[in-house]
Amino acid sequence: MLAAPASDLLQNALIVGDNGEALEALLETHRGTVTLAYLDPPFFTQRAFTTNSGAAARGETAFDDHWSSRAEYMEFLARRLMLVRELLAPWGSVVLHVDPKTSHYLRVLCDEIFGEDAFASEIVWRYRRWPSKQENFQRVHDVLLRYRKDPTTKGRWNQLYEPLAASTQKTWGTSKQKAVVNDEGKRARSSKTEDASPGVPLGDVWDISVIAPVAKERTGYPTQKPEALLNRLIDALSDPGDLVLDCFAGSGTTLACAAERQRRFLGVDASPVSVATITRRFAAKGVPLACVPLADLTSIPAPPDSTTRLRLDGRGR
Ligand SMILES: C[S@@+](CC[C@H](N)C(=O)[O-])C[C@H]1O[C@@H](n2cnc3c(N)ncnc32)[C@H](O)[C@@H]1O
Repeated sequence: MLAAPASDLLQNALIVGDNGEALEALLETHRGTVTLAYLDPPFFTQRAFTTNSGAAARGETAFDDHWSSRAEYMEFLARRLMLVRELLAPWGSVVLHVDPKTSHYLRVLCDEIFGEDAFASEIVWRYRRWPSKQENFQRVHDVLLRYRKDPTTKGRWNQLYEPLAASTQKTWGTSKQKAVVNDEGKRARSSKTEDASPGVPLGDVWDISVIAPVAKERTGYPTQKPEALLNRLIDALSDPGDLVLDCFAGSGTTLACAAERQRRFLGVDASPVSVATITRRFAAKGVPLACVPLADLTSIPAPPDSTTRLRLDGRGR
């Protein structure tokens, strides 16, 4: 069942507090309303993250990524992923941003939670970083796992394109090609058309630079993701007016990109440094943002039949 009309719902807001509790509270009001959920959790690095150049106060601890065990980390994420699944609209999808040290564990976890048939893509975000001398191939990618809420429903999808390969452009220029089929129905060759080519449909390996030290978008929040990455996800997987959720909001990249692209948005973060960073980021853009303490969400009494049942064995569709 879908929740109340969008205008009655909390939106364009940052919820301040633990995202497990926040997502649970949102189930009462926002079940089935989220088109895109982007989760960029701590990566199980067993270290603390401090603010860097560009921050209001450099060297402040933004968040801690220490865990007693991998099992604890997995349980933490499993609970949040199950809650997110309930918040997704049937046409919606979740993107979980992780690194290659945990992505294989989380892929299996997501298969359990969303169903193997709900798996949509493993996007490799490839970036350039300062070369480090080591007897190994330097890690230059993150992994983004996308799952659909309901693969039997038409999902939200806007086709994006990337430029034609240099060799293709050399032969064909930038005009659209038309497949020429021979008498036996086999593809023989291509011919040029008058129309300009939009490029090739975007693949699942994305070359996007990390945020440069002097970039305008840099907030100084550690682990801040580039707007180009979030813009791509938002453009492809949501339409204007859709609700975008980021429950590990950090510096607010997803929220800022969603607002700029006329999406409604909800963010959650427990870190005071994150809240201060997001507030500053929105104020600089002159975009209104409501900051809602978790207590204000949970003080709304839940209806008597609202027990949230979360199980790993059911897909909850
Ligand atoms: C990797 S950062 C997100 C960075 C973000 N994508 C950006 O572009 O700036 C992870 C964030 O999750 C937040 N976080 C971790 N555990 C949380 C929890 N239980 N509840 C709310 N926020 C949490 C941290 O405070 C941190 O800001």
